[in-house]
Amino acid sequence: MSLDAARDIIHEAKRIAVLTGAGISAESGLPTFRGADGLWRGFRAEEMATPDAFARNPRLVWDWYEWRREAVIRARPNAAHRCLVEIELHAEQFTLITQNVDDLHERAGSRNILHLHGEILVTRCTRCKRETRKRVASHDCSCGGLFRPGVVWFGEHLPEDLWERAQQAARTCDLLIVVGTSGQVQPAASLVPLAQANGAKTIEVNVEASAVSPSIDISLFGAAAQLMPSLI
Ligand code: OAD
Repeated sequence: MSLDAARDIIHEAKRIAVLTGAGISAESGLPTFRGADGLWRGFRAEEMATPDAFARNPRLVWDWYEWRREAVIRARPNAAHRCLVEIELHAEQFTLITQNVDDLHERAGSRNILHLHGEILVTRCTRCKRETRKRVASHDCSCGGLFRPGVVWFGEHLPEDLWERAQQAARTCDLLIVVGTSGQVQPAASLVPLAQANGAKTIEVNVEASAVSPSIDISLFGAAAQLMPSLI
């Protein structure tokens, strides 16, 4: 019943925004951050994804990201990523706001993507600010500085223009679809009440209730790659 209602809402929506989190890539083999399997190589994201952790032990943080990069490169987009491509093709306005640092949305074929938390396949020098998408052979930049991943760490601000565009998409959409996020990390999660305050309907896909579930219009509980193809 709620699946039918969700399908109708998606069909009728003209301006769609989507907020995705780690859960959409779970069935591609990439672990989530929270929950039972929520550990990347035995570390919690809050321990490693911080400027402090990098200052204390840059090598350890670099190696952790190298390990995660390998996993992202090996992973393939799944049916949930592909479903969002279909939805984008039929919407008048579509913005895919992802908290994920992987590139599975791009590889599936999505076009208008905002990477709120950056991209793991981008590397940036902390000193000369050189940025590259090529794999770098070592953690050391030729300028004498250290390379870091092009992601946003806890305690760092989101790039201002990107955050403005994400808010704009949330403010102007008539439907926000939320997929595979615990809704625990701010400011990303605040896009849900922002869209609702501006009259948008909301649909959520998650294997279990999230922090935003209580306010969502239609919560669909199930694994995204299995459930989402029946939405289109
Ligand atoms: P979390 O790990 O916090 O949450 C993942 C969500 O996906 C949970 O609500 C799961 O129930 C759900 N989930 C798991 N498998 C699923 C599946 N197959 N289908 C649908 N849902 C599924 O990940 P995020 O919410 O993305 O930030 O976390 C937000 C941010 O915290 C991340 O971007 C990262 C992290 O620390 C930074 O690194 C800055």
